[in-house]
Amino acid sequence: HIVPLVLCGGTGSRLWPVSRTESPKQFHAVSGGNSLSFLQATVQRHTGERMRDPILVTNAKHAHYVRAQLDEIQMRGEIIGEPVARNTGPAVLAAALKALKADRDAVLLVLPADHVIEGDVNGQVSAMYDAAQDGRIITYGILPAYPETGYGYITDGGPIVGYDGLHHVGEFVEKPPLDRAQALLDGGRAYWASGISMFRAETIVEEYRRFDPGTFMAVFHAVANETRDTYGAILDPGAFSQAESQPTEIAVFEKTDAIALAPLSIGWNDVGSWEAMHSIGAADDAGNVLSGDVISIDTRNSLVRSQDRLVAVVGLDDVVVIDTNDALLVASRTKSQQVKQAVQTLHLED
Ligand code: GDD
Ligand code: MG
Repeated sequence: HIVPLVLCGGTGSRLWPVSRTESPKQFHAVSGGNSLSFLQATVQRHTGERMRDPILVTNAKHAHYVRAQLDEIQMRGEIIGEPVARNTGPAVLAAALKALKADRDAVLLVLPADHVIEGDVNGQVSAMYDAAQDGRIITYGILPAYPETGYGYITDGGPIVGYDGLHHVGEFVEKPPLDRAQALLDGGRAYWASGISMFRAETIVEEYRRFDPGTFMAVFHAVANETRDTYGAILDPGAFSQAESQPTEIAVFEKTDAIALAPLSIGWNDVGSWEAMHSIGAADDAGNVLSGDVISIDTRNSLVRSQDRLVAVVGLDDVVVIDTNDALLVASRTKSQQVKQAVQTLHLED
């Protein structure tokens, strides 16, 4: 059996002002309106015969969203609340320790909760189940379409003999500048890092113990001394805050011999910016993606969203206008990665 492990504790700050410290991206509807949220879509994608109920790790102050969103789609799941954010590594380790208690043979499927995906991702990731059971740590890659600087890259180190579709990892390159990203594409052996991975809970626990014993002990005690509220578990704050703030990729994947790369052929997008949101939206003839009460005149290739009042745009090209109850964003569409800086000035991220 596979236990989906959904990571939903990020801040999504590049999608301000819709994504807020109080209500980050993963809890919002993928395409505005009443569609499923990113989180709900992620959970629903990974159900079926082989899949157990998911474990969801989030900031403790957002556990109520996670529970409400699960209830809405009638799904069960174990929620783990983090008292402080320590990046994805400690979140994964905490879930692995809890999964191990329930089942020595648990295989975890790590899922970021902020992607738009087309195709049978569940079938494709599950195909690597045997390799995970054999002790491999599988990280999934996507064939890159263009030199995105907002993604990590994994280079292909050649096929692993005896496993169909599994490759050695050459190197991990996290969010390279444009020239490096272009060189990786030109080299023809690089994949986008999807952030999706699969391994035995036991494997990741052992590798943490070996490569980062301090974080292993911190998270072990955070789980041992957890408390519970109506939404789920809350990790012990004193212990958890001692964990090193690092993604699993750096803490373990880059160091372990167990790592393997499995390419996925799916449509995939981490809708990390308003520009990405524009590119996945349904555009009208002028290339505009509009939602809410919006009038657009002589405007092209723009994204305009209004929450609850009328917004009119006239004579604009390549802009992003996002109007919410208490904040308004007006930005150049191609520079929308920099929205993060506006949020940092506000000290909204705690
Ligand atoms: N529980 C928990 N705790 N979840 C977290 C935390 C945390 O402290 N920090 C981030 N997450 C969750 C986010 O909610 C998201 O679902 C996922 O982990 C990835 O975090 P992001 O902050 O969205 O990372 P990124 O998009 O900048 O980069 C990562 O993902 C890319 C693909 O989407 C990297 O792994 C890149 O290499 C990769 O290409
Ligand atoms: Mg992301």
